Amino acid sequence: MIDLPNLRPQVEDIARAAGHFLRTQQASFSQERVSLKSLNALVSDVDKNAEELLVSALGNLLPEAGFLTEEGTVSQNTNANYYWVIDPLDGTTNFVHGLPIFSVSIALMYQNEPILGVVYEVGMDECFSAIQGGGTTLNGSPAHTSATAELKDSLLATGFPYYDFSGVAGFQKTLEYFYPRTRGIRRIGTAAVDLSYTACGRFEGYFEYGLSPWDVAAGILLVREAGGQVCDYQGGNAPIDSKSIIATNKGVFGDVLRVIQHNIGNG
Ligand code: IPD
Ligand code: CA
Repeated sequence: MIDLPNLRPQVEDIARAAGHFLRTQQASFSQERVSLKSLNALVSDVDKNAEELLVSALGNLLPEAGFLTEEGTVSQNTNANYYWVIDPLDGTTNFVHGLPIFSVSIALMYQNEPILGVVYEVGMDECFSAIQGGGTTLNGSPAHTSATAELKDSLLATGFPYYDFSGVAGFQKTLEYFYPRTRGIRRIGTAAVDLSYTACGRFEGYFEYGLSPWDVAAGILLVREAGGQVCDYQGGNAPIDSKSIIATNKGVFGDVLRVIQHNIGNG
């Protein structure tokens, strides 16, 4: 078995190095560098270069591990016992529009479960990390989900549908339910950070559908290890490829799950 406590700071350093690259690139970024992968799925040379940097560093760290990466700059292999799941730039739309919230997300999977997760949020220089059974930290200090038990005291986060509009009606009904019954709902534009902020108690909960494995793999572990609960819209264990996610503190989990299943169904 891999020595996770030893691996963790090394992966944090690699995430920080990629984040530093993103920060310097944003300062001189221009729209001509953007292209479209599909509807509203933006990409640029920056995403790809950051991914190459991560693949090279993580490959040196653990040569036996495979890769599942957003930009596909390396051959994809999730059959290995261990594989890395990488989003080199989560929040690409924020990045290309000059907004300051975006992140690097790295998970190490063992038998298809995240056992190490690191999310580095570049704008605030915050590094969230977790190892299975070893808790979650924010810049090295322990992080925990909030103790809030009531929706009326909760700040929630979500992501608006931007390419799969099949669930929009139920999504709108869910928002309408939450508007008057919570302190508000945020859409900050990076799922990895939504999960990190839930893990450290800034958000009581986060829900979204239409996600990819690299958006959530690290963040799922961050929330679980911080004392929170994670499932998909079906109420299942939220495998990283389940596309929908509900991640909350323990106190509001039941309420959020009930509202989403009532309005969106099993998504
Ligand atoms: C996106 C962000 C966004 C979420 C989308 C993701 P990207 O990732 O995480 O918050 O709403 O579903 O695809 O494209 O910026 O890597
Ligand atoms: Ca992403």
